[in-house]
Amino acid sequence: VHWTPEEKQMITSLWAKVNVAECGGEALARMMIVYPWTQRFFSTFGNLSNPQAIQHNPKVLEHGKKVLTSFGNAVKDLDHIKETFAHLSELHCEKLHVDPENFKLLGNVLVIVLAAHIRKDFPPACQAAWHKLVAAVAHALALRYH
Ligand code: HEM
Repeated sequence: VHWTPEEKQMITSLWAKVNVAECGGEALARMMIVYPWTQRFFSTFGNLSNPQAIQHNPKVLEHGKKVLTSFGNAVKDLDHIKETFAHLSELHCEKLHVDPENFKLLGNVLVIVLAAHIRKDFPPACQAAWHKLVAAVAHALALRYH
């Protein structure tokens, strides 16, 4: 992926405003609610029986924070996203058997959650840069699949 200086700037300046625990938990919970088939990967997480339960499930919130923290490694090194996620790509493929289509779904949800949190500081150009980023991360996570 090639980034313009403007894109890099928009990505890092938005990231500085993100509450990782809050947005990470919300994004993972929303993914499970909007795309309910993704719940099946998290059968050990306890009660996922309705939106309310999912949004307050401590394991969902904790894991969402972990996922968004890991996503932040892409932001910190935008020119090496493939390398950053090589190991996680192997893990999601070989151990977790997550269909890589789901990475795109979580990316889309994340953009929506960021927009809802940041509101006025999320112009279309910033959305475009973030959309490109979540697509790049989804692509990197899918690379080790075979
Ligand atoms: C675990 C990152 C998307 C399912 C993990 C872990 C990280 C991570 C850092 C912990 C790995 C470890 O314990 O060493 C990410 C990132 C994603 C992503 C950065 C995309 C931005 C997804 C999606 C799904 C998924 C879309 C399923 C729909 C899982 C599962 C685990 C896991 C089931 C193991 C959970 C557990 O039992 O502890 N992921 N993930 N991930 N991920 Fe992902």
